Amino acid sequence: MEQIRIFDTTLRDGEQTPGINLNMAEKLALARQLERLGVDVIEAGFPAASKGDREAVTKIARELKDTSVCGLCRALPSDIDACWEAVKQGVSPRIHIFLATSPLHMEYKLKKQPQQVLEAAVAAVKYGKQFCSDIEFSAEDAFRSDPAFLYQVLEQVIAAGATTVNVPDTVGYATPEEYGAFIRGIMDHVPNIEKAVISVHCHNDLGLAVANSLSGVIAGARQVECTMNGIGERAGNASLEEVVMGLAVRRDHYGFACGVDTKQIYRTSKLTESLTAVDIATNKPVVGSNAFRHESGIHQHGVLAHPQTYEIMTPESIGKVQSDFVLGKLSGRHAFALRLEELGFRLDNETIDAAFVKFKELADRKKEVTDRDISALIEKKSLQVQEHYKLQSFQIQTGNNITSIAGVDLVHEDMVHSEAAVGNGPIDAIFRAVDKIVGISCTLENYSIRAVTDGKDAMGEVTVKVRFADRIYSGKGLSTDILESSVLAYINTINRVISDQEAAEA
Ligand code: KIV
Ligand code: ZN
Repeated sequence: MEQIRIFDTTLRDGEQTPGINLNMAEKLALARQLERLGVDVIEAGFPAASKGDREAVTKIARELKDTSVCGLCRALPSDIDACWEAVKQGVSPRIHIFLATSPLHMEYKLKKQPQQVLEAAVAAVKYGKQFCSDIEFSAEDAFRSDPAFLYQVLEQVIAAGATTVNVPDTVGYATPEEYGAFIRGIMDHVPNIEKAVISVHCHNDLGLAVANSLSGVIAGARQVECTMNGIGERAGNASLEEVVMGLAVRRDHYGFACGVDTKQIYRTSKLTESLTAVDIATNKPVVGSNAFRHESGIHQHGVLAHPQTYEIMTPESIGKVQSDFVLGKLSGRHAFALRLEELGFRLDNETIDAAFVKFKELADRKKEVTDRDISALIEKKSLQVQEHYKLQSFQIQTGNNITSIAGVDLVHEDMVHSEAAVGNGPIDAIFRAVDKIVGISCTLENYSIRAVTDGKDAMGEVTVKVRFADRIYSGKGLSTDILESSVLAYINTINRVISDQEAAEA
């Protein structure tokens, strides 16, 4: 069966989502999980855009053993040099060059004539080809380009050495019928098209990104660019999990295989959610918490009689396993390590030891520690940023008839710093006390809380987003006590702001 290549751009297009700023450890953790998921290409960043991106792409390319790692670059020698430097140590490096071809972009953004764009595209591909055999060329805003001009550009970049040509619907404007016809037009009018793989890259402004991508596949595309949980600029990109499960569940219709291990989808989705702090909607296809939940009696009865009455795929097929196996405070390190392995976490002894300490602390507070609790602990571990400030203790007085007052003790450079503050409710009071100690003032943009597991003793995960110097930073806190989750999330966010400030000053 013919294969569709899955090109994951969570770490590049996905990371462009406002409010997402992953540190190096988080990017690496996600890249490792994407490799486990079995994607064909990981676009790990835009090396010329920042030192952080360059370092992340370099590290990811060096570290991954099976997956092609790619970097994005503009059609400029300096960008291509930076990209090659970053990806060259990878097992199969790819350079991804983009240049816009639509009249709007050429006139207003690039301020170039079509002929100049054509020449720049060809020159950039030739330049990249000196270093790397695997070159992808993207005609940005391809869908709104003049088809005749686009055919010319694609023909010439293929002749110059491009091995993949990407056809983005950059602004999510296409409908499935139009996009399929557009890809077919490329198949029919670009004479050397059989020398390259056609790739689709669809944005979700009209909610059609997955439908458009699959329509492109039917028309002849053999690579789909997508992001985990569909994160990305504005309404996001095509969701990897929806594309992959669409191809898998409806293989009878599409007739293609792909290399993704669908059983890794749920874990990858959860990891992406916790690292990016972009919550998955409950009704999100495939990975939303309601995706396999049946509320109505008729449906429950049907599913019990035969799952396929109301389920077209099983939770197990995406690796969402309900285990009866619960650990508690009497469980030992051996049982804990075994459970981690069964859950698919491959950790070194040091990390297991650290996680085991956290597990014991949790087991003291919570009767039964479930698989989801354990996964949340591990994901939280990889979320850690440098702890410039660490929570030692906090106290709160609050009620419906009194002004809330909070006291906070934070450890900074081995010294305990204490402050108290009043606030409009307990959370406001704690955050103000932290602000007094840290001495930087951020604007709180968003605060959200959700239960990670079920039951009265469930762990509550708080996500905090703050604005500092025109950037949005987010952090998370996890505890069985929601006030503790809140203060941990706020400190985690502040630590990110400080790390970022330090990196910018370095
Ligand atoms: O949406 C887009 O056009 C892109 C390109 C840079 C590939 O992300
Ligand atoms: Zn894009």
